[in-house]
This record gives sequence, C-alpha cells and structure tokens, in this order.
Amino acid sequence: MEEFTREKIIEILKDDSQNDWLFSLADKVRKEYVGDEVHLRGLIEFSNICKCTCQYCGLRCANKTIERYRIEPEDIIDLAKMAVDIGYKTIVLQSGEDNFYDTDKMCKIIENIKKFDVAITLGIGEKTYEQYKAYRDAGADRFLLRIETTDKNLYEKMHPHMSFDNRLRCLKDLKSLGFEVGTGCLVGLPGQTIESLADDILFFKEIEADMIGIGPFISHPQTPLKDADNGNFILALKVMALVRIIMKNINIPATTAMETLHENGRLIALQSGANVVMPNVTSTEYRAKYEIYPGKICINDEPSKCRGCIEGKIKSIGRSISQNYGFRGKKQR
Ligand code: 5AD
Ligand code: FES
Repeated sequence: MEEFTREKIIEILKDDSQNDWLFSLADKVRKEYVGDEVHLRGLIEFSNICKCTCQYCGLRCANKTIERYRIEPEDIIDLAKMAVDIGYKTIVLQSGEDNFYDTDKMCKIIENIKKFDVAITLGIGEKTYEQYKAYRDAGADRFLLRIETTDKNLYEKMHPHMSFDNRLRCLKDLKSLGFEVGTGCLVGLPGQTIESLADDILFFKEIEADMIGIGPFISHPQTPLKDADNGNFILALKVMALVRIIMKNINIPATTAMETLHENGRLIALQSGANVVMPNVTSTEYRAKYEIYPGKICINDEPSKCRGCIEGKIKSIGRSISQNYGFRGKKQR
C-alpha cells in the first residue's frame, strides 16, 4: 500500500473526488484487520459537573443554564450491573472533571464493577500519575482522553485554563501504566486547518493509541462558540477512514456526534472504518442533562431499547455483535 505521508493525507482531505475510494478502502482494512464483529460498550455518564471551561463544551463550568447531577457510587454500580445483564462486556464510565469522585470513591466503583466480569473504560479527564495508577490497580482496563487538536495554539485557545503539555503527560502516563489508550480529535473547530488534522492523524500513530474517537464539532448555544458553524460530517468521516487505513487493527467507535449530524451517521461510520458503538446506558432522567452538544441522540430511550435498536441496525448491514471484551487486536483476558 502506498505511503500515507503528511502531504498525501492533506491531499486526500482536501480532495473530495476520491471519497468513495477512501471509504471502501477503510472498510476493507477494517474487515481484514478486525473483522465483521462490532463491539458494543455500555456508556454511563455519571456526572455532568465539570471544573473545566472548554470553549466548545456544553458541560463547561461557566454554563449556568444546565441542571447538574451526580450519580452516587452505589447507583453507578447498579447501572453497570443492569448493563451487564443486558449483554455489555465493556462498561464506559464517563463524566465531567468532577473531584467529588476522589481516588477512593473511583477505585471502589471500579472494583465493584469488575466483579461482574467486564472490561472497564474510564473517561474522566486529566489526573495525576498516582491517580491513574490507582485506577489501573483497581482493575480499569482502558482510558479515553482525546487530545482534541494537536495544534497547540488552537488547543490553548479552546482550553483557556488547561495546558497542552499536561494533556500529553496524561496520555504518556496512561500508556506506561498499561491502559489501552483511546484518544482522538474534534473535526471542524473554528480556526482548525486541514494541515492540523493531518498532524492529528500522524500523532495518533506516533503515540500508538489503541482506540481513536473522531467526531464533528457541534456548536452549543450556551458556549462562546455558539455562533460558529458545525463541523462537516464528511470531513470527520474522512479523518476516521484515514485513521483506520493507517493504524489498521485499532478500535474505532462510530461516534454519537456523527449520528447527530447525519441520521445514519453511525452505520455510515461502521461502513467506513469503524468497529465499535457506545450505546448509552445512563438512566433516562439524566441523559438530556449530559448535553455536551445539542441534538444528542437517544435522550428519551431506555438502555434496553438502545441495545435492541443498535443491534438491529448492525445486523441490517451484515455485521455481527461481538460476544467478547473487545480488546485491541485479538488479545482477550
Ligand atoms: N461537539 C462535538 N463534540 C464535543 N465534545 C465536547 N464538546 C463537543 C461539541 N460541542 C467531545 C470532546 C470530548 C468528548 C467527550 O466530547 O471531543 O473529548
Ligand atoms: Fe438509542 Fe437507537 S441507539 S434508540
């Protein structure tokens, strides 16, 4: 296969005349390296309280219009049990950066959920090495922390109180602790260039990420970016397809943001390189409040409905549902 240099990636991203070729090549690489099985991860959004001020995110602490919630540790464990009972082999615990869940609380949650014989993924933000180590020792298997953009200037504009270098430190720590590491980027941030998206793709390869989540930016009315245009669905799909072609056997979710911008967004993503879907298993009373961006799908649906719905869709495109933990490549526990 030809070499995907920075120049080549930029050329592909700028030229829409080869899109069909790109998407079918990504689909072929997906089939060859990770097969037809789709891994389903049950997503629990357990707190929408966040100390950060990411310019694009509806959960930013400066947004006073959303009703905040925290799910108690025992209730998170119960939600996880319910998700396991309906068939999930991975539980994803996601939240804003909320210090209420200190290391002890997080580790108790992880240890208890681990008893249900599932893989655990965390998406809870930037922590210290010691905290990450404690989560890993408690049994967490994977961690999601998107770099969001590798353009340092843009990163610092988008995250006024955060540091790009600390983000990198977190990713490095996670990797060294033996987590499967998921990262990724937003596509269509105001001021983002095609060149920087090419750099994002090369960065994912350089740090040898195990999972990559790509989603279009969606403008949220309660943020400083309320007047910005949404990202482009096709461009996000192209970044994702290139990641599959270049990184081969990693796990790539068909992201919810893709489906927000296109009614069949997740299925199209599954046919353009993706092999994972993360249906929501949070109780209906909280779903609408986890409004990272507007138009989020499934906000009124019960966990079992989403499971049934997405299984049906996956089977309708000739794919099957994985029955294993879904670690990268063939590695299972
Ligand atoms: N549009 C799309 N995705 C967003 N995220 C945060 N805000 C938005 C938005 N407005 C993504 C970020 C974060 C993930 C959990 O959600 O990439 O890492
Ligand atoms: Fe939630 Fe389709 S995945 S209703």
